[in-house]
Amino acid sequence: MREKIRNFCIISHIDHGKSTLADRFLEITGTVPKEKMRAQFLDMMDLERERGITIKMQPVRMVYGLGNSDQKILKKFEAQSPNLQKNNLELTNSEFILNLIDTPGHVDFSYEVSRALAAVEGAILLVDATKGIQAQTIANLEMAKKENLVIIPAINKIDLLNAQIEKTEKEISLLLGVEKEEILKISAKNGTGVEELILKIIEKIPPPRPKETDFLRALVFDSKYDYFQGVIAYVRIFDGKIKKGDKILFLKKNIVGEAKEVGYFLPELSSREELVAGEIGYIKTGIKNPEDVRIGDTITIVNQEKEIERKSFQVSTSISKVQPLPGYKEPKPMIFSSIFPKEPTTFEELKEAIWQLHLSDPSFSFVPEKKGIIGIGFRCGFLGILHFEIVVERLKRDFNLDIFVARPMVFYRVHLKNGQIKEISTPEEFPEENLISFCEEPWVSLEIITPQKFFNNVLQLFLPFKINFLSSENFGEDKIKINGEMPFRKLIENFYDKLKSVSQGFASLNFEFTSFRKVEVVKMDILILKEKQPSLSKIVEKTELEKEARETVLKIKEVFPAQLFAVPIQAVVGGKVIARETIKAKRKDVTAPLYGGDFTRKKKLLEKQKKGKKELAKKAKIFVPSEVVIKLMKE
Ligand code: GTP
Repeated sequence: MREKIRNFCIISHIDHGKSTLADRFLEITGTVPKEKMRAQFLDMMDLERERGITIKMQPVRMVYGLGNSDQKILKKFEAQSPNLQKNNLELTNSEFILNLIDTPGHVDFSYEVSRALAAVEGAILLVDATKGIQAQTIANLEMAKKENLVIIPAINKIDLLNAQIEKTEKEISLLLGVEKEEILKISAKNGTGVEELILKIIEKIPPPRPKETDFLRALVFDSKYDYFQGVIAYVRIFDGKIKKGDKILFLKKNIVGEAKEVGYFLPELSSREELVAGEIGYIKTGIKNPEDVRIGDTITIVNQEKEIERKSFQVSTSISKVQPLPGYKEPKPMIFSSIFPKEPTTFEELKEAIWQLHLSDPSFSFVPEKKGIIGIGFRCGFLGILHFEIVVERLKRDFNLDIFVARPMVFYRVHLKNGQIKEISTPEEFPEENLISFCEEPWVSLEIITPQKFFNNVLQLFLPFKINFLSSENFGEDKIKINGEMPFRKLIENFYDKLKSVSQGFASLNFEFTSFRKVEVVKMDILILKEKQPSLSKIVEKTELEKEARETVLKIKEVFPAQLFAVPIQAVVGGKVIARETIKAKRKDVTAPLYGGDFTRKKKLLEKQKKGKKELAKKAKIFVPSEVVIKLMKE
């Protein structure tokens, strides 16, 4: 029966059509009835649908029956696998199981992709015919190669008038070293070539490896929290099997639970008797504490050795001798921000929400943090700005929380004069200038792929973003691959959007942390209504201080909601005001009820309004909405 299973992902650069291709698979296999079908079906979160991007991986199990015309493939498998007919998967002879995991394309969610890749044997490398190979195509391909996956290349969007099929074909064959004939040409939108792609999956992607042991070893590649049912673990069964009622053990944390239910993703959860080696499915663990479950952990069954050994007349007393699967490398957060509840009394709710969210997104880190009058919250680490934005949005929407966030910043290494090294991820921690010997900040290596015609435009961004040009090489017919390096601090200043706009959306980018390098920085505070706003403080390079100060107060002025009174904004370093702006008061026309030209009365009313506003401003307390912080990062 193992021979009947194909586990695979679709990988690509953002927007090349993964979720749309998954839609066609769902339709062709009849997994989702026509009347229930909607575009990008597997993008289940509202946030994904609104933004048109995949944020979470989503597994789905489909069954595909070979038609009469595909009997050749079937015969080939029957010859290779004599046991093919004997399966307990409720399949007919010509049916195959296709376990797909749809993945995101944006670089900030590459940890999702890497986890999905470790659970499958093959990947479709999808390339948009109008864009060709882009940076994330290469980055995701590298990850798939590390997992030794079989790669099936396919060019998508061939229905579009501006599709450049031959050019894309050349790029792919150069990248993968394959013949052009091996590259499929499809339209995920209208279905052209999709069935051929399914046949290729069945033919080329190997079935799951044979089990190495009878003991259950299930890799937790994702998980989700359900208020009533506790943690639901998304698993790939590598060895053994699991059925409802089994006592389970999480090897990393030695936590015991019970398989309350096991089953498949259709894509909604659908319960089954058991899950066996090679399959992808879920286990409802009944565990109510989200802290007990770690993604990347191995689930086994308690005392299964005893059962198995009893049969062979051996006795064992150990709780488990099962070796855990390799699991995942912990992702390294690149930027940090503080998240606080607006009402300090809701801290416990925030804590609960963060733990639950962490179950489905283990790539953000968090530690409790206490901040003066604001109270207790969390310092959180993220993989990038979009990641930060999405986590904040999910906390607000999915958990209905009212929160404050601080402006995200990179991690600094501060060498003190007394020889100590401090790792700083929040402006408040930044030591007094006279204590600092020198500071270091993270740098990343960059790979930019751009059509040649935008090469000069892209190069013009290098100076303002402090990018060091390292090398460039021609790629395919008309593209250039540029290698460079830059401070990560500059990359999070909206570099990605700027790159897109100077290249009409065609240039793309991948980056990787390389090293810490020296930088001269100071802490710049922002005062609103003369009060320091810790959520807007920023670490700034000394040589750029004045420019940064001017630009920051101006940006705040643009994005801050107007109040009923005038609001002064100041950028301050060490008590000295570097720049200042004022948000004008929102003006209510108090003279509207007056008819005619009674000038003195009008004047009186306006003066009264002015005085009232001054009083209001004295009493007012300004809170910086999280939207303002996010807008500041994007402007
Ligand atoms: P991310 O997961 O966010 O990286 O995106 P994705 O790769 O899943 O891309 P998605 O399926 O969301 O498609 C992106 C856009 O391309 C959507 O507007 C689709 O309708 C469109 N699209 C996808 N495939 C095709 C195709 O074959 N032809 C045409 N014309 N449009 C397509």
